[in-house]
Amino acid sequence: MWKLAQSPHLTQLWCAPGNGGIAQERLIHRGAPVACVSVGAEDVPGLLGLAREKGADLTVVGPDNPLALGIVDQFQRSGLRIWGPNRKAAEFESSKVFAQQFMGRYGIPTARSGTFISAEPAKDFATTLEGGCAVKADGLALGKGVLVCRNLEEATQAIDQILVRKSFGEAGARIVIQELLAGTEVSLHALCDGQVAKLFPTSQDHKRALDGDQGPNTGGMGAYSPTPFLSDAQLAEAGRKIIEPWLRGCAAEGIDFRGILYPGLMLTRDGPKVLEFNARFGDPETQVYLPRLENDLVELLDASVRGELNKLELRWSPSVAVCVVMASGGYPGSYVKGKPIHGLEAVARLANTKVFHAGTAQAGDQVVTSGGRVLGVTTWAEDLAGARQAAYAAVNEIRFEGAQFRRDIGVKAIGAG
Ligand code: AMP
Ligand code: GLY
Repeated sequence: MWKLAQSPHLTQLWCAPGNGGIAQERLIHRGAPVACVSVGAEDVPGLLGLAREKGADLTVVGPDNPLALGIVDQFQRSGLRIWGPNRKAAEFESSKVFAQQFMGRYGIPTARSGTFISAEPAKDFATTLEGGCAVKADGLALGKGVLVCRNLEEATQAIDQILVRKSFGEAGARIVIQELLAGTEVSLHALCDGQVAKLFPTSQDHKRALDGDQGPNTGGMGAYSPTPFLSDAQLAEAGRKIIEPWLRGCAAEGIDFRGILYPGLMLTRDGPKVLEFNARFGDPETQVYLPRLENDLVELLDASVRGELNKLELRWSPSVAVCVVMASGGYPGSYVKGKPIHGLEAVARLANTKVFHAGTAQAGDQVVTSGGRVLGVTTWAEDLAGARQAAYAAVNEIRFEGAQFRRDIGVKAIGAG
């Protein structure tokens, strides 16, 4: 919303459902506020009604669930312009079985893997991997559908949990089992228009809850861009080995992907391998991409919908951006909501700093916590050390009861590369 609101093309901007931070954004060329409307992100008929009522020229889809529900197809059938992959294209994220088999068909480097609907053959395959594997529910499972297993006992439990005890319901009717890959994880993003894909610079998320990559997996505790772990030449090579065969496969299968393809990569000793595809902007990767993006985002998304990305070049500032996520105490387990957040006004005055809200709400004149990940405190500077220092200076200004955050976002990249 922050980046969209910078576009001179906009006259009005609505966000459904929005949050306490988005409600404070303004269109910078007109001063008009961004209006938050309380329609849920999965209420496709409600969103259609909203776009019609407001006469919206373009709808931009953020999260995975409405894409998997086919919001893009439904808008298109109703003659409304919308940005994001259609239901078939969104299967790269909404079906791990589809994505894995597609990679196999087009020679995209990935982990050795198998797909299963019953437990016995799945366990036999896990045995051939000597137990070290990632067991993945096929469908969307709120980011919790991947169980990383260190030995055969854990793998057996994970297979039973998903295929026998059905703990992810229908999303776990099928599973993918991948060999466990060792290496450094990085994120790629490519903006696609059905024909061409424009690669973004690299970024790196920090998925574990605690410093030193300890603790449980989360939605992402912080990110920075670019990462030194993939040089420009290696990024170009990843484009040739991953994005080009992916585009050829889409063309061969009639998949019209207009949106963001976000491959999660493991940089292994044998080169980059794809762990998974997402079909949307990453969180918190987006927080570190958008401050570096010099193009007008509305123009880019419009070109993506039109199939005219070949006419545009992405332009990036050479700065390094860092995002530190501040989360509620207890996240990713249970946590308490409604804690008042202090210090946002002071941080709003800092240069090259933007606090993106995630789980916040407005309660009277007070911004309060309303989710697990609460804020993405983002700064940008000439180098990583400077951006990190600024990010943590801003984090130290912000207080809410129980706040937890990692103190080592980007640390491994300092001095690397
Ligand atoms: P995903 O949702 O597929 O990205 O998986 C969540 C996390 O599990 C990833 O960010 C990795 O840290 C880990 N993971 C998934 N697949 C593998 C794999 N084949 N080898 C090692 N780690 C994995
Ligand atoms: N960065 C993790 C995600 O967006 O899925």
